[in-house]
Amino acid sequence: MEKKVTRIGVLTSGGDAPGMNAAIRAVVRTGIYHGLEVFGIMRGYQGLIDDDIFRMEGRSVANIIQRGGTILKTARCKEFYEPAGRKIGYDNLKKRGINGLVIIGGDGSFRGAVNFSKEFDIPCVGLAGTIDKDISGTDFTIGFDTAVNTAVEAIDKVRDTMDAHDRIFIIEVMGRDAGYIALHSGIATGAENILIPERKTDINSIIASLQEKERRKKMVNLIVVAEGDEFGGANEVQRVLQDKLPKAEIRVCILGHIQRGGAPSCMDRLIASRMGYHAVESLLEGRHNVFVGIQNNRMNYIPLETAVKNKGKISDEWMKIVKILAS
Ligand code: F6P
Repeated sequence: MEKKVTRIGVLTSGGDAPGMNAAIRAVVRTGIYHGLEVFGIMRGYQGLIDDDIFRMEGRSVANIIQRGGTILKTARCKEFYEPAGRKIGYDNLKKRGINGLVIIGGDGSFRGAVNFSKEFDIPCVGLAGTIDKDISGTDFTIGFDTAVNTAVEAIDKVRDTMDAHDRIFIIEVMGRDAGYIALHSGIATGAENILIPERKTDINSIIASLQEKERRKKMVNLIVVAEGDEFGGANEVQRVLQDKLPKAEIRVCILGHIQRGGAPSCMDRLIASRMGYHAVESLLEGRHNVFVGIQNNRMNYIPLETAVKNKGKISDEWMKIVKILAS
């Protein structure tokens, strides 16, 4: 018979995402509502290994729903990739009687949880917390909405100066392996070209259309590129384009980590609260080693193992929309 979950640990892992605090708050308060003891684990899996674990109360999460970052801090922990690291983490949980773990993070963090749950008898539940939105089985990930709105606000500003000077701008947004921020922010700001890691870019057709614009003396063009596109980001794209358009004024703007910070949007607070609540319910109901997603406005519970294997996919329809609307 499965053991009853009575004490749970919660951690945030990988790149932080706005809304992680709202998720922690929901996990802690739902746990306490159900009479569980809740423990915060600092710096993701690193805190598990370093034994940086502390008891949380309802008031530990007061006044954090509106804050970016994560009060539990976060890290990418190499030691947890190794069985020896995971064993230390397990021992630290075991000695406190923690028998359930909530992991708020992206696919890398889920990968750690998959190995951990195979090796030890501590059930894990994941919450999709990543600005990249690159996890399949959920329509939302915590942080994406805020990040993409930050990007849109910044790109709109760049567009003003781009337009005033008749320049080409290449704006780099985050996404080492995923193009969702580029796709969404690019469509929302009317970008002419969107370059993402999931698709091959026909650079020659971009060059041809820019040369045509040059002939018509209409050199305004917004290109949004994900940092992990095939060229390796905005500076590289600039190099390629400048080579073919020596007279054009091509500027680069790299938005960087501002996309990860700031107060979470209402949407991110809502989904974080909902997912956090359901993560605890899931542990209590015996739905283990899954991550909690939302699909078609319903909760979706996807085995962590499946989540790790299937990354989110960008549909052909989106790419068609980009092409038609930019023409
Ligand atoms: O996974 C989230 C993310 O922001 C990616 O979009 C980006 O490539 C990466 O993290 C950057 O990580 P770091 O902050 O460690 O440089």
